[in-house]
Amino acid sequence: MTETTVAGQQMAPWWKTATGYQIYPRSFCDSNGDGIGDIPGIISRLDHLRDLGIGFIWLSPVYASPMADNGYDISDYRDIAPEFGTLEDFDRLVAEAKARDIRIVMDLVVNHSSSAHDWFRAACASRGAPEHDFYIWRDAAPDGGPPSDHQACFGGSAWTWVPEVERYYLGHFSPEQPDLNWQNPELRREIYDMMNWWFDRGIGGFRMDVISVIGKDVDAGVYEEGPYLHGFLQEMHRETLAGRDVVTVGESWSVSPETALSYCGRDRHELDMVFQFNHVTAFEDEVAGKWKPKPFDLRRFKAIFATWQGVMAEDGWNSLFLSNHDLPRQVSKYGDDGTFRVASAKMLATVIHLMKGTPFVYQGEEIGMTNVRFERIDQFRDVETLRQYTGKVAAGMAPETFIAGANENGRDNARTPMQWTAGAQAGFTDGTPWIEVNPNHRTINVAADRADPDGIFAFYRNLIALRRERPVVVAGRYLSFAQDNPAVFAFARDLDGERVAVIANFTGTPAEFDVPDGLAGAGTCLVANHAPRSELSGRITLAPFEAVAVLLAARGERDTQTEGAT
Ligand code: NOJ
Repeated sequence: MTETTVAGQQMAPWWKTATGYQIYPRSFCDSNGDGIGDIPGIISRLDHLRDLGIGFIWLSPVYASPMADNGYDISDYRDIAPEFGTLEDFDRLVAEAKARDIRIVMDLVVNHSSSAHDWFRAACASRGAPEHDFYIWRDAAPDGGPPSDHQACFGGSAWTWVPEVERYYLGHFSPEQPDLNWQNPELRREIYDMMNWWFDRGIGGFRMDVISVIGKDVDAGVYEEGPYLHGFLQEMHRETLAGRDVVTVGESWSVSPETALSYCGRDRHELDMVFQFNHVTAFEDEVAGKWKPKPFDLRRFKAIFATWQGVMAEDGWNSLFLSNHDLPRQVSKYGDDGTFRVASAKMLATVIHLMKGTPFVYQGEEIGMTNVRFERIDQFRDVETLRQYTGKVAAGMAPETFIAGANENGRDNARTPMQWTAGAQAGFTDGTPWIEVNPNHRTINVAADRADPDGIFAFYRNLIALRRERPVVVAGRYLSFAQDNPAVFAFARDLDGERVAVIANFTGTPAEFDVPDGLAGAGTCLVANHAPRSELSGRITLAPFEAVAVLLAARGERDTQTEGAT
């Protein structure tokens, strides 16, 4: 295992000191004018990521795919989609990234394949084909209808009839994404061989798409965290991961503080960490989900993070993020994408990057990219948004109401092209982009932000460097403060007598804050998005979205004075 040294201390493994950066390849950089981002485009921008200081890229799927879900529907696990490039381009990406100390983490999408995969074609042609059992089939209900009323995540029944074999197959997400049957050992062997094949090409790990669904018990109606999940993950570990110096992050919308360590506890031999979404789903309707958001409540938000920091205090490891390709832009969701865009983007980064765990930056976050505002449904591209629109409008919802919801929480917000310049198509492509660029690229773009020494990029670079340079940021114990304060997020990190105090105003108005004793003191200002502070004491007035982190000078017996330590 590669050990990293931070300020003379051994920090193993490497992914505990590294910051991740997610690339959604379709929207990152187009090198050939077809309007779709590609691997040569990514290579051309690697210096931007090296300058930012990240340690690895999580690359959303680049495999061969009909792109029903932009690559989360794979038709050949050992090839690259032609619109993204070739295997040679991919190998070049791994090498060029390595030359900049950046690893490439692939997306592993093995809960389902594409309906265009050869396996599925064979499976549909005959019940006798070996591949038939690679998928999940059930006979029709007595009335000829689907075997259950299970609904697909993107809308409609999860079951689709195939006349050739006179059976229904399961597509938990959509009919174009038939679920793989993990009960079949030959299928699992195919998957493990494929994973090893990519490892042998030099990749740095896998982000595992909806991994908590692979152990399902369909007949019992249990999809998430089913009875076979951990057995499969342990087998996968034995067959592919054991002994390799790689990182694994399992995506799960159902994982809870109670179940988290069963994935990433040190004796489990499964995964290194999970992407959990408790801080996202807490503000969604239990039934209608993101299409019916609940008002944000900072107290609840803080409590969720404090709980996760507590769960992983001694074992396991957290991933830290507010944004990805399925979520709205974080500055629009949790900050202010108007007057206080820059301040709030920096504030959110301060909170996330100074917690314990591995932070993930989603492309464009480092320059404060915002949600987009589309007027018409034909401007949207996301399969989920389009299917939900059809279903909800047919059920009587006004189209404008749906579009307002999609502009707030839909997945296309994160998928508009990366804004490199103020020029045509934001410098993303010389052609016509597959999805419109956000018109605000004229002011919000990489060139402008990087030219500003006080820009968001420079701020992120500082935060990312702090993690590489200061053991307390990597390994420090997390302590919560002022949990009941509805406006201010306050915490500390402690290691070997050192304490970093972090205070952040989550609102667009000034906030009076009585500095708790455990955060009080004088020291060195590590991070500030407003006038730097080197002393915290008494009642302070935080500017709108102000965030500050101070490395407090050593003070004896500090541990006895903490409040609400987690
Ligand atoms: C989660 C991915 O992040 C999302 O983009 C995708 O649509 C679903 N899994 C299905 O693969």
